[in-house]
Amino acid sequence: MSAKRSSIHGQWSSRWAFILAATGSAVGLGNIWRFPYLAGENGGGAFVLVYLVCVVLVGIPIMMAEILLGRRGRQSPINTMETLAAEEGLSKHWHFLGWMGVIAGFVILSYYSVIAGWTLGYIFRTGTGLFVDADAAFSKQMFAELVADPEKLLAWHTIFIIMSVVVVSRGVKSGLEKAVRFLMPALLILLLVMVGYAMSTEKFMEGINYLFIPNFEVLSHKKFFADILLPALGQAFFSLSIGMGAIMIYGSYLSHKSSITFNCFTIAIADTSVAILAGVAIFPIVFTYGLEPAGGPGLIFVTLPIAFGQMPFGTFFGTLFFVLLMFAGWTSSISLLEPAVTWLVENRDMTRVKATALAGTIAWLLGIVTIFSFNHWAFSFRFAGVVKENGFFDIFDILTSNILLPVGGLLVAIFAAWLMSRSSTVDELGIGDGPGYKAWRFAVRYIAPFGVIIIFLNAIGLFKVLGLVE
Ligand code: PHE
Repeated sequence: MSAKRSSIHGQWSSRWAFILAATGSAVGLGNIWRFPYLAGENGGGAFVLVYLVCVVLVGIPIMMAEILLGRRGRQSPINTMETLAAEEGLSKHWHFLGWMGVIAGFVILSYYSVIAGWTLGYIFRTGTGLFVDADAAFSKQMFAELVADPEKLLAWHTIFIIMSVVVVSRGVKSGLEKAVRFLMPALLILLLVMVGYAMSTEKFMEGINYLFIPNFEVLSHKKFFADILLPALGQAFFSLSIGMGAIMIYGSYLSHKSSITFNCFTIAIADTSVAILAGVAIFPIVFTYGLEPAGGPGLIFVTLPIAFGQMPFGTFFGTLFFVLLMFAGWTSSISLLEPAVTWLVENRDMTRVKATALAGTIAWLLGIVTIFSFNHWAFSFRFAGVVKENGFFDIFDILTSNILLPVGGLLVAIFAAWLMSRSSTVDELGIGDGPGYKAWRFAVRYIAPFGVIIIFLNAIGLFKVLGLVE
């Protein structure tokens, strides 16, 4: 029976181990670095509102589907999809979904590691008291100097990839649980400290209004589907780590006794709270110090150091903050490598250490393109109503979050809710065939796939060409 399949890679030691590891994957730079800068670029409140709707209606149902597939297949996403497709009498080409995820994982990790490298750099910058009493101009200049220096970026990127490779090569489970158990509460406390600081700034309410009240004037300058919905949907996938197999592989180590529904809601609530807290901490600082909300990927690296320079014990809090952010990125990067590594172990008969070294090297090489995106190879283009200034980095980011992850999620939804037999999903989800199951099935069968398709068609302007919208 497939339901009794076990993973050659082992199982989580407890239910909390899965929740912690998956939260470690979900909570990362996506919440603290990416969410605020996208919200700032795409009009604040409207983006945040649409983001929350995407998490609830599309993100959580797809996350449940992805974990369900992983737990049933119990292998790397590539082999899981092949096995499950065979079991349901479908084409083995479904393994393509796993492949897409592996590619998305490499591309995301390649730039994720560069940004995590900035975080490493900022540990030392805040730690040495560089930002004490710094003003906005100084903070901007410090950030500009860092990204203008490819050698520094390469050094930090290399260190971060090595850190990720070391953990993954030892097997995901050892250490991760303990690290996350301490890390998440610490990160939460620190974010609250920063929210406390934000409350003391002059423009706290302006920041809050910006973040939570949709501004219809901004909306009138933007195309709703392309400028707000598409990036918000992409951020939901990115932040929840869904659509590329990361959560699927973590699900493959999950015990049968554990409730997928409870786990998913816990993870999604933790993930969303961290993102919102980061927004609440950042935007009041942005307005108080006269910075631009649409500051792009440098937003937190420019704004937060100013706050650390002003607040009591700022050097201490600042250093700790960047250390914790680095850890949060680390626990996410591990899950980006894991699908590729398990496949290499399963199909290429490699040892875990060799497989991880190979996968890490590929991501490291690709990361060099991102490094040059911020200096020698920088070029700009327009996307989602905003000028993107960092060429290949932005292309990688858009390609993965706005295209590959939603398409991956769409295929997961189609597979789990349209192609897999109802009895298999009822059996695997383990909540019976009552209202909870029906709500989930409705969301994965209709809301999630049609939502993704409509957003895509609109974003690429197909509806316009066909004369269906103005
Ligand atoms: N969710 C992670 C973050 O928010 C990034 C990630 C995306 C991790 C996709 C795994 C898979 O930082």
